[in-house]
Amino acid sequence: STELRDLLLSRIRDVADYPQPGVMFKDITPLLADPVAFNALVDALAGLCARHAATQVVGLEARGFILAAPAAARARLGFVPVRKAGKLPGPTLAQGYALEYGTAEIEVHADAFGPGDRVIVIDDVLATGGTAEAALDLIGRTGATVVGVAMLMELTALGGRERLAPVLKGVPLDALVAV
Ligand code: PRP
Ligand code: MG
Repeated sequence: STELRDLLLSRIRDVADYPQPGVMFKDITPLLADPVAFNALVDALAGLCARHAATQVVGLEARGFILAAPAAARARLGFVPVRKAGKLPGPTLAQGYALEYGTAEIEVHADAFGPGDRVIVIDDVLATGGTAEAALDLIGRTGATVVGVAMLMELTALGGRERLAPVLKGVPLDALVAV
């Protein structure tokens, strides 16, 4: 709804020149600190979990964890972390991806999903789409089915939605706020 969008947007702070000159950082800490806005956000994300009949909620380290874990609990679903490489103790699958400078790697436990699991992926921001693309590739390799991707915020100018289209293949990508 417009009211939800306006509430969320009003609690996201623009920080100029962070982490580098020329970058406008979207700081969600005021939103997280506001109980009304945070609760509305968690409700909206849990609603998307239900709408897509998800059975598991994946959060992307680190900021995605803050949103995905309470959304999973509210939707009465399990939470699965996709972590930066080297943090998960069990056998994992790994997926590398390119950053603006250098590369990164994410992992998920190889046994995180069972047959028939329907996974929704939650993160805070869709920017270039590199992180989400790697997560979708990674989850796809586990054999699980991704039924939705939910973002608090989409930075439309960076083209993440277009980048993800070939890997989404029609799976819905919902952003609660687009800027
Ligand atoms: C940020 C943000 C998203 C990602 C979006 O994470 O939380 O996960 O970048 O950018 P992209 O669409 O261009 O990939 P980041 O890895 O910077 O740090 P975090 O550990 O604080 O989430
Ligand atoms: Mg992140």
